[in-house]
Amino acid sequence: MTGAVVADDLTGHVILITGGARGMGCETARVLGSRGAHVIIVDWEGEAGTRTRDAINAARPGSAVFRYCDLSSLDEVRELAAWVDANYDRLDVLINNAGITDPVRRVSLDGFEMHLATCHLAHFLLTHLLLDLLKRSAPSRIIMISSDAHKAGPGLDFDDLNNEKLWKAHDKPSNGAAFQAYHRAKLSNLYFMHSMAERLAGTGVTINAISPGYFVNTSIYRNMSGIFMLAARVVFGFGTVFGLNTPQRSAKTYVKLATDPALEQVTATYFEHEKVKETSAQAQDPEARKRLWDWSVTQTGAGAD
Ligand SMILES: NC(=O)c1ccc[n+]([C@@H]2O[C@H](COP(=O)([O-])OP(=O)(O)OC[C@H]3O[C@@H](n4cnc5c(N)ncnc54)[C@H](OP(=O)(O)O)[C@@H]3O)[C@@H](O)[C@H]2O)c1
Repeated sequence: MTGAVVADDLTGHVILITGGARGMGCETARVLGSRGAHVIIVDWEGEAGTRTRDAINAARPGSAVFRYCDLSSLDEVRELAAWVDANYDRLDVLINNAGITDPVRRVSLDGFEMHLATCHLAHFLLTHLLLDLLKRSAPSRIIMISSDAHKAGPGLDFDDLNNEKLWKAHDKPSNGAAFQAYHRAKLSNLYFMHSMAERLAGTGVTINAISPGYFVNTSIYRNMSGIFMLAARVVFGFGTVFGLNTPQRSAKTYVKLATDPALEQVTATYFEHEKVKETSAQAQDPEARKRLWDWSVTQTGAGAD
Protein backbone atom coordinates (compact mmCIF):
# COMPACT_ATOMS: atom_id res chain seq x y z
CA MET A 1 0.00 0.00 0.00
CA THR A 2 1.07 3.47 -0.52
CA GLY A 3 2.16 6.87 -1.78
CA ALA A 4 0.47 10.03 -2.77
CA VAL A 5 -3.16 9.91 -3.70
CA VAL A 6 -3.67 9.86 -7.44
CA ALA A 7 -6.79 11.01 -9.20
CA ASP A 8 -8.10 7.98 -11.02
CA ASP A 9 -6.87 4.78 -9.43
CA LEU A 10 -7.20 4.90 -5.66
CA THR A 11 -6.36 1.26 -5.05
CA GLY A 12 -4.53 0.86 -1.75
CA HIS A 13 -5.74 4.14 -0.31
CA VAL A 14 -7.76 4.31 2.87
CA ILE A 15 -10.25 7.15 3.29
CA LEU A 16 -12.43 7.79 6.34
CA ILE A 17 -15.54 9.94 6.01
CA THR A 18 -17.77 10.95 8.92
CA GLY A 19 -21.48 11.32 8.20
CA GLY A 20 -20.97 9.04 5.21
CA ALA A 21 -24.30 7.20 5.43
CA ARG A 22 -26.34 9.88 3.70
CA GLY A 23 -26.19 13.08 1.68
CA MET A 24 -22.92 14.37 0.30
CA GLY A 25 -20.85 12.02 2.45
CA CYS A 26 -22.64 9.02 0.94
CA GLU A 27 -22.16 10.30 -2.61
CA THR A 28 -18.47 10.98 -1.93
CA ALA A 29 -17.96 7.49 -0.46
CA ARG A 30 -19.65 5.99 -3.52
CA VAL A 31 -17.37 7.80 -5.98
CA LEU A 32 -14.17 7.13 -4.02
CA GLY A 33 -15.10 3.46 -3.53
CA SER A 34 -15.82 3.09 -7.25
CA ARG A 35 -12.27 4.25 -7.96
CA GLY A 36 -10.79 1.55 -5.76
CA ALA A 37 -10.29 3.36 -2.45
CA HIS A 38 -11.12 1.54 0.76
CA VAL A 39 -13.73 3.78 2.38
CA ILE A 40 -14.53 3.77 6.10
CA ILE A 41 -18.05 5.14 6.45
CA VAL A 42 -18.74 6.51 9.94
CA ASP A 43 -22.25 7.50 10.97
CA TRP A 44 -24.93 6.97 13.61
CA GLU A 45 -27.52 6.04 10.96
CA GLY A 46 -27.02 2.25 11.04
CA GLU A 47 -29.51 1.31 8.35
CA ALA A 48 -28.43 4.00 5.88
CA GLY A 49 -24.78 3.28 6.67
CA THR A 50 -25.01 -0.43 5.91
CA ARG A 51 -27.08 0.32 2.79
CA THR A 52 -24.39 2.71 1.53
CA ARG A 53 -21.64 0.21 2.35
CA ASP A 54 -23.47 -2.63 0.57
CA ALA A 55 -24.13 -0.54 -2.54
CA ILE A 56 -20.44 0.35 -2.79
CA ASN A 57 -19.34 -3.24 -2.20
CA ALA A 58 -21.84 -4.58 -4.74
CA ALA A 59 -20.05 -2.56 -7.41
CA ARG A 60 -16.54 -3.26 -6.05
CA PRO A 61 -16.31 -5.89 -3.29
CA GLY A 62 -14.27 -4.94 -0.22
CA SER A 63 -14.27 -1.24 -1.00
CA ALA A 64 -16.28 -0.09 2.00
CA VAL A 65 -16.87 -0.77 5.68
CA PHE A 66 -19.45 0.86 7.91
CA ARG A 67 -18.61 1.80 11.48
CA TYR A 68 -21.36 3.00 13.81
CA CYS A 69 -20.38 6.00 15.95
CA ASP A 70 -22.27 8.76 17.70
CA LEU A 71 -19.69 11.43 16.99
CA SER A 72 -21.18 13.79 19.55
CA SER A 73 -19.86 11.44 22.24
CA LEU A 74 -16.18 12.00 22.97
CA ASP A 75 -15.85 8.43 24.27
CA GLU A 76 -17.32 7.01 21.07
CA VAL A 77 -14.88 9.13 19.05
CA ARG A 78 -12.03 7.71 21.14
CA GLU A 79 -13.32 4.16 20.52
CA LEU A 80 -13.59 4.88 16.79
CA ALA A 81 -10.01 6.16 16.60
CA ALA A 82 -8.70 3.17 18.58
CA TRP A 83 -10.54 0.82 16.20
CA VAL A 84 -9.04 2.57 13.15
CA ASP A 85 -5.56 2.37 14.68
CA ALA A 86 -6.00 -1.31 15.45
CA ASN A 87 -7.31 -2.22 11.99
CA TYR A 88 -5.44 -0.02 9.54
CA ASP A 89 -1.79 0.67 8.91
CA ARG A 90 -2.50 3.79 6.89
CA LEU A 91 -5.01 6.62 6.43
CA ASP A 92 -4.66 8.73 3.31
CA VAL A 93 -7.63 11.03 3.69
CA LEU A 94 -9.80 12.03 6.64
CA ILE A 95 -13.01 13.81 5.63
CA ASN A 96 -14.67 15.53 8.60
CA ASN A 97 -18.15 15.82 7.11
CA ALA A 98 -20.87 14.99 9.66
CA GLY A 99 -23.11 17.91 10.58
CA ILE A 100 -26.60 18.78 11.75
CA THR A 101 -29.15 21.57 11.90
CA ASP A 102 -31.63 21.22 14.72
CA PRO A 103 -33.99 23.89 16.06
CA VAL A 104 -34.38 21.97 19.31
CA ARG A 105 -31.50 22.60 21.72
CA ARG A 106 -30.09 19.15 22.40
CA VAL A 107 -27.01 18.23 24.39
CA SER A 108 -24.55 15.41 23.93
CA LEU A 109 -23.77 12.75 26.52
CA ASP A 110 -20.86 14.96 27.58
CA GLY A 111 -23.13 17.98 28.05
CA PHE A 112 -22.19 19.91 24.89
CA GLU A 113 -24.77 21.54 22.65
CA MET A 114 -25.15 19.24 19.61
CA HIS A 115 -24.04 21.56 16.77
CA LEU A 116 -20.85 22.30 18.69
CA ALA A 117 -20.37 18.66 19.75
CA THR A 118 -20.92 17.13 16.31
CA CYS A 119 -19.46 19.66 13.89
CA HIS A 120 -16.53 20.92 15.96
CA LEU A 121 -15.52 18.95 19.06
CA ALA A 122 -15.93 15.50 17.46
CA HIS A 123 -13.73 16.43 14.54
CA PHE A 124 -11.20 18.29 16.69
CA LEU A 125 -10.73 15.14 18.77
CA LEU A 126 -10.92 12.60 15.93
CA THR A 127 -8.32 14.48 13.87
CA HIS A 128 -5.90 14.59 16.79
CA LEU A 129 -6.35 10.93 17.57
CA LEU A 130 -5.70 9.94 13.94
CA LEU A 131 -2.85 12.39 13.41
CA ASP A 132 0.01 9.93 13.92
CA LEU A 133 -1.54 7.55 11.41
CA LEU A 134 -2.05 10.40 8.93
CA LYS A 135 1.58 11.50 9.39
CA ARG A 136 2.83 7.95 8.86
CA SER A 137 0.75 7.85 5.65
CA ALA A 138 1.98 11.20 4.30
CA PRO A 139 1.39 12.70 1.85
CA SER A 140 -2.10 12.66 3.33
CA ARG A 141 -5.04 15.01 3.60
CA ILE A 142 -7.60 16.28 6.07
CA ILE A 143 -10.77 17.88 4.69
CA MET A 144 -13.14 19.94 6.83
CA ILE A 145 -16.69 20.33 5.55
CA SER A 146 -17.55 23.86 6.57
CA SER A 147 -20.14 26.16 4.96
CA ASP A 148 -20.59 29.73 3.82
CA ALA A 149 -22.92 29.92 6.82
CA HIS A 150 -19.66 30.72 8.65
CA LYS A 151 -20.10 34.23 7.22
CA ALA A 152 -23.73 34.58 8.31
CA GLY A 153 -23.44 35.85 11.85
CA PRO A 154 -21.39 37.71 14.43
CA GLY A 155 -19.09 34.78 15.25
CA LEU A 156 -18.39 32.87 18.43
CA ASP A 157 -19.46 34.16 21.81
CA PHE A 158 -16.54 33.21 24.02
CA ASP A 159 -18.71 33.68 27.08
CA ASP A 160 -21.19 31.20 25.68
CA LEU A 161 -19.26 28.58 23.70
CA ASN A 162 -21.76 25.91 24.68
CA ASN A 163 -24.63 27.92 23.14
CA GLU A 164 -26.57 28.17 26.40
CA LYS A 165 -27.85 31.68 25.73
CA LEU A 166 -28.66 31.28 22.03
CA TRP A 167 -31.94 29.55 22.82
CA LYS A 168 -34.04 31.98 24.85
CA ALA A 169 -36.06 29.05 26.16
CA HIS A 170 -34.35 25.67 26.15
CA ASP A 171 -37.63 23.80 25.83
CA LYS A 172 -38.78 25.70 22.71
CA PRO A 173 -37.50 25.05 19.17
CA SER A 174 -35.87 28.04 17.44
CA ASN A 175 -34.74 28.11 13.81
CA GLY A 176 -32.82 31.32 14.48
CA ALA A 177 -30.87 29.81 17.38
CA ALA A 178 -30.17 26.67 15.36
CA PHE A 179 -28.84 28.71 12.48
CA GLN A 180 -26.55 30.73 14.76
CA ALA A 181 -25.28 27.55 16.43
CA TYR A 182 -24.62 26.16 12.94
CA HIS A 183 -22.86 29.41 11.92
CA ARG A 184 -20.60 29.17 14.98
CA ALA A 185 -19.85 25.50 14.36
CA LYS A 186 -18.91 26.08 10.72
CA LEU A 187 -16.72 29.05 11.66
CA SER A 188 -15.07 26.79 14.24
CA ASN A 189 -14.21 24.33 11.43
CA LEU A 190 -12.28 27.12 9.70
CA TYR A 191 -10.54 28.25 12.90
CA PHE A 192 -9.48 24.64 13.29
CA MET A 193 -8.29 24.41 9.68
CA HIS A 194 -6.03 27.45 10.00
CA SER A 195 -4.65 26.52 13.41
CA MET A 196 -4.03 22.91 12.46
CA ALA A 197 -2.40 23.86 9.13
CA GLU A 198 0.23 25.85 11.06
CA ARG A 199 0.96 22.85 13.27
CA LEU A 200 1.16 20.49 10.29
CA ALA A 201 3.78 22.50 8.39
CA GLY A 202 6.48 20.17 7.08
CA THR A 203 4.65 16.94 7.93
CA GLY A 204 3.23 16.20 4.46
CA VAL A 205 -0.30 16.32 5.88
CA THR A 206 -2.52 19.05 4.45
CA ILE A 207 -5.80 20.42 5.76
CA ASN A 208 -8.35 22.26 3.63
CA ALA A 209 -12.03 23.12 3.87
CA ILE A 210 -15.11 23.05 1.67
CA SER A 211 -18.29 25.05 1.35
CA PRO A 212 -20.49 22.48 -0.41
CA GLY A 213 -22.80 25.20 -1.78
CA TYR A 214 -26.12 26.63 -0.62
CA PHE A 215 -29.15 24.51 0.26
CA VAL A 216 -27.78 21.30 -1.18
CA ASN A 217 -30.66 18.87 -1.48
CA THR A 218 -29.96 16.44 1.37
CA SER A 219 -31.86 15.65 4.55
CA ILE A 220 -29.85 17.97 6.79
CA TYR A 221 -32.59 20.60 7.07
CA ARG A 222 -35.42 18.15 7.77
CA ASN A 223 -35.93 19.37 11.34
CA MET A 224 -36.09 23.05 10.40
CA SER A 225 -39.48 24.70 9.92
CA GLY A 226 -41.28 27.97 9.16
CA ILE A 227 -39.80 30.52 6.79
CA PHE A 228 -36.42 28.77 6.80
CA MET A 229 -37.93 25.51 5.53
CA LEU A 230 -40.12 27.34 3.03
CA ALA A 231 -37.06 29.09 1.57
CA ALA A 232 -35.16 25.80 1.55
CA ARG A 233 -37.97 24.01 -0.32
CA VAL A 234 -38.11 26.73 -2.99
CA VAL A 235 -34.33 26.65 -3.46
CA PHE A 236 -34.28 22.82 -3.40
CA GLY A 237 -36.92 22.65 -6.14
CA PHE A 238 -35.41 25.38 -8.31
CA GLY A 239 -31.83 24.22 -7.84
CA THR A 240 -32.60 20.59 -8.52
CA VAL A 241 -34.28 21.40 -11.84
CA PHE A 242 -31.06 23.11 -12.97
CA GLY A 243 -28.73 20.62 -11.25
CA LEU A 244 -27.27 23.40 -9.10
CA ASN A 245 -27.62 21.96 -5.63
CA THR A 246 -27.46 18.20 -5.96
CA PRO A 247 -25.27 16.17 -3.57
CA GLN A 248 -23.58 14.79 -6.69
CA ARG A 249 -22.43 18.26 -7.73
CA SER A 250 -21.11 19.09 -4.27
CA ALA A 251 -19.37 15.74 -3.89
CA LYS A 252 -17.15 16.63 -6.86
CA THR A 253 -15.33 19.13 -4.66
CA TYR A 254 -14.89 16.53 -1.90
CA VAL A 255 -13.43 14.10 -4.44
CA LYS A 256 -11.17 16.74 -5.95
CA LEU A 257 -9.73 17.72 -2.58
CA ALA A 258 -9.26 14.07 -1.65
CA THR A 259 -7.58 12.97 -4.86
CA ASP A 260 -6.28 15.73 -7.15
CA PRO A 261 -2.47 15.37 -7.37
CA ALA A 262 -2.24 19.10 -8.11
CA LEU A 263 -3.51 19.80 -4.58
CA GLU A 264 -0.93 17.65 -2.78
CA GLN A 265 0.87 20.68 -1.32
CA VAL A 266 -2.16 22.96 -1.00
CA THR A 267 -3.20 23.62 2.57
CA ALA A 268 -5.32 26.05 4.65
CA THR A 269 -7.48 26.80 1.62
CA TYR A 270 -11.26 27.04 1.29
CA PHE A 271 -13.05 25.65 -1.79
CA GLU A 272 -16.55 25.77 -3.25
CA HIS A 273 -17.58 23.95 -6.43
CA GLU A 274 -13.98 22.95 -7.16
CA LYS A 275 -12.66 26.51 -6.98
CA VAL A 276 -10.79 28.41 -4.30
CA LYS A 277 -13.04 30.80 -2.39
CA GLU A 278 -12.36 33.51 0.19
CA THR A 279 -13.36 32.85 3.76
CA SER A 280 -14.57 35.70 5.91
CA ALA A 281 -11.79 37.80 7.46
CA GLN A 282 -13.18 36.67 10.81
CA ALA A 283 -12.31 33.04 9.99
CA GLN A 284 -8.62 33.95 10.01
CA ASP A 285 -8.59 35.89 13.27
CA PRO A 286 -5.56 34.45 15.14
CA GLU A 287 -6.76 35.58 18.56
CA ALA A 288 -10.18 33.92 18.19
CA ARG A 289 -8.61 30.81 16.72
CA LYS A 290 -6.28 30.48 19.67
CA ARG A 291 -9.09 30.95 22.18
CA LEU A 292 -11.19 28.25 20.55
CA TRP A 293 -8.19 25.91 20.27
CA ASP A 294 -7.27 26.30 23.93
CA TRP A 295 -10.87 25.77 25.03
CA SER A 296 -11.19 22.68 22.80
CA VAL A 297 -7.98 21.24 24.28
CA THR A 298 -9.46 21.64 27.74
CA GLN A 299 -12.74 19.98 26.77
CA THR A 300 -11.33 17.05 24.78
CA GLY A 301 -7.92 16.50 26.35
CA ALA A 302 -6.36 16.48 22.85
CA GLY A 303 -4.20 19.00 20.99
CA ALA A 304 -2.09 20.53 23.75
CA ASP A 305 1.00 22.10 22.16
N1 LIG B 1 -26.85 20.44 2.70
C1 LIG B 1 -26.41 21.68 2.64
O1 LIG B 1 -27.03 22.57 2.07
C2 LIG B 1 -25.07 22.05 3.23
C3 LIG B 1 -24.56 23.33 2.97
C4 LIG B 1 -23.33 23.67 3.53
C5 LIG B 1 -22.64 22.77 4.32
N2 LIG B 1 -23.17 21.54 4.56
C6 LIG B 1 -22.39 20.62 5.39
O2 LIG B 1 -22.12 19.44 4.65
C7 LIG B 1 -21.97 18.32 5.55
C8 LIG B 1 -22.81 17.15 5.07
O3 LIG B 1 -24.16 17.58 5.08
P1 LIG B 1 -25.33 16.85 4.28
O4 LIG B 1 -26.16 17.95 3.75
O5 LIG B 1 -24.80 15.81 3.37
O6 LIG B 1 -26.11 16.23 5.52
P2 LIG B 1 -26.90 14.85 5.73
O7 LIG B 1 -27.52 14.40 4.46
O8 LIG B 1 -27.78 15.07 6.90
O9 LIG B 1 -25.72 13.84 6.10
C9 LIG B 1 -24.98 13.99 7.28
C10 LIG B 1 -24.87 12.64 7.96
O10 LIG B 1 -24.17 12.82 9.21
C11 LIG B 1 -24.89 12.13 10.21
N3 LIG B 1 -24.65 12.62 11.57
C12 LIG B 1 -25.12 13.75 12.16
N4 LIG B 1 -24.78 13.79 13.44
C13 LIG B 1 -24.05 12.68 13.69
C14 LIG B 1 -23.44 12.14 14.86
N5 LIG B 1 -23.50 12.76 16.04
N6 LIG B 1 -22.78 10.97 14.77
C15 LIG B 1 -22.71 10.32 13.59
N7 LIG B 1 -23.29 10.76 12.46
C16 LIG B 1 -23.96 11.93 12.51
C17 LIG B 1 -26.32 12.36 9.81
O11 LIG B 1 -27.23 11.55 10.52
P3 LIG B 1 -28.71 12.20 10.82
O12 LIG B 1 -29.34 12.35 9.47
O13 LIG B 1 -29.38 11.23 11.72
O14 LIG B 1 -28.47 13.53 11.49
C18 LIG B 1 -26.24 12.05 8.31
O15 LIG B 1 -26.28 10.66 8.08
C19 LIG B 1 -22.37 18.83 6.93
O16 LIG B 1 -21.21 19.15 7.67
C20 LIG B 1 -23.13 20.12 6.63
O17 LIG B 1 -23.04 21.05 7.68
C21 LIG B 1 -24.38 21.15 4.05
